[in-house]
Amino acid sequence: MSLTIRLMQPDDIPLGMYLKEQAGWNQTPRDWQRFLTLEPTGCLVAEYSGHAVGTTVALCFGDTAWLAMVLVEQSYRRRGIGRALVEHALKYLASRKVRTIRLDATDLGRPLYEQFGFSTEYTITRFAGTPKLLETPYELSVRQAVFSDYTAVSALDALVTRTDRSRLIAEWWRDDQIAKYVATQNNQIAAYAFLRPGAKAYQLGPVIGVADLGLMFLAQVMGLAAGKPIYIDIPDYQIAARDMAQNLGCRAERSFHRMWLGQAPQEMRSLLWASSGPECG
Ligand SMILES: CC(C)(COP(=O)(O)OP(=O)(O)OC[C@H]1O[C@@H](n2cnc3c(N)ncnc32)[C@H](O)[C@@H]1OP(=O)(O)O)[C@@H](O)C(=O)NCCC(=O)NCCS
Repeated sequence: MSLTIRLMQPDDIPLGMYLKEQAGWNQTPRDWQRFLTLEPTGCLVAEYSGHAVGTTVALCFGDTAWLAMVLVEQSYRRRGIGRALVEHALKYLASRKVRTIRLDATDLGRPLYEQFGFSTEYTITRFAGTPKLLETPYELSVRQAVFSDYTAVSALDALVTRTDRSRLIAEWWRDDQIAKYVATQNNQIAAYAFLRPGAKAYQLGPVIGVADLGLMFLAQVMGLAAGKPIYIDIPDYQIAARDMAQNLGCRAERSFHRMWLGQAPQEMRSLLWASSGPECG
């Protein structure tokens, strides 16, 4: 029995889709393609006795990285393949000199990450459902983003997450299947949200907005998604946002542990209303 870890190629996207379907996840082939575009040397495949049976993706955003898509074919689990994938990804990230590594762990993944020293920062609940329209819309004008909003959206994202995700946001920006919404305050972008198609449901996130309008903005963009099945991953400390999601017809479906290794993350948590999903925070 031999275990090798190699770089993922575009030809491996069907493997990634098979593994994520087995796990019941929401990613699409476009998501896998985006990972390969963003970090071709951070996307890995595990081969066990010549069979491709596992994946992981390590994405660097400046000095912070996200580890995601750690998947092992069900019949090959508990043989050290997941551990080998994480070990290789961490070695790669060490070579990229990142200071903080973050991830959203499932219950299956958490014991594995704890063995590498990851700690839980907070928990996140995934709400799922088809939101209904707000009965009384807030007096907040939300509009579709235009091309020239990219710089301000990227800057707001970096301010709140303390991570330079401009390359990721640029990838989302050029994808016309992804809806982008913004709200302004004093002529400046004060909130933004993305609504991305997924295999099972649209993912509403990230949703980021300054304190006095963030919650209203979240409600308005859920209203804009009315009629569509969505997932929205809300940090558990955002109690009002969780209540809002439930009032608008979504139900808690599963939870994630947001974990970190290295230097503690410094984001402005209170302005993060929904995460982009487990792949990139
Ligand atoms: C999580 C996952 C990747 C682990 O892969 P794996 O190849 O089985 O992991 P390993 O065999 O390398 O196990 C490494 C260690 O993790 C822990 N571990 C793995 N699976 C576990 C389980 N089901 N329950 C408890 N601990 C577990 C164990 O400590 C294990 O060491 P041990 O077997 O010596 O006790 C795999 O279960 C999987 O693909 N799950 C579905 C997708 C998923 O949830 N991925 C994690 C995303 S955060």
